[in-house]
Amino acid sequence: MTNRTKIGVAVIGFGWMGQAHTRSYIRIPTLFPERTFDPELIVVSDNMASRVDEAVESFGFREGTTDWRQAIAHPDVDVVCICAPNMLHEPIAVAAVEAGRHGPGRIQLPLGAAGAVCETAGRGRNARRDHQLQRPFLHDVRL
Ligand SMILES: NC(=O)c1ccc[n+]([C@@H]2O[C@H](COP(=O)([O-])OP(=O)(O)OC[C@H]3O[C@@H](n4cnc5c(N)ncnc54)[C@H](O)[C@@H]3O)[C@@H](O)[C@H]2O)c1
Repeated sequence: MTNRTKIGVAVIGFGWMGQAHTRSYIRIPTLFPERTFDPELIVVSDNMASRVDEAVESFGFREGTTDWRQAIAHPDVDVVCICAPNMLHEPIAVAAVEAGRHGPGRIQLPLGAAGAVCETAGRGRNARRDHQLQRPFLHDVRL
């Protein structure tokens, strides 16, 4: 059996995009046999408790919470997938960067949050922008 790196995923906002991204994480093993990592659905957050329950019961997240700060603080999370409404992108992204101080991590950033997050990450950290991905989640920050 191949020894792959486990990547712990937090999905914040479990509406249309949160579910779409989660389905993609679930399909990764069937689509990429040569992969060097395996995503693990660690924690989901939505302010609607019924969506949290659905995510845990039907999509297989290990845990769920209605408080996105708890999801970011989970010790097994490496990737924070931000699928909440636009007004929450910046505070979630900044908090995620700040929480990364305990170890390596990667954050998928919506475009609108990039400025504040790079400023935060710039405090002793290395921010990188990927110009090759012409998608809403364009920036990533390596801690
Ligand atoms: N729908 C699309 O095709 C599409 C495409 C590209 C990008 N986006 C972006 O994705 C993001 C989400 O869009 P969507 O279409 O999935 O919206 P949506 O309304 O379907 O889902 C948003 C979810 O966030 C939850 N939410 C609200 N406040 C929250 C909070 N405080 N904590 C945790 N969860 C909270 C809502 O309950 C809802 O389940 C938006 O920024 C949108 O611009 C959407």
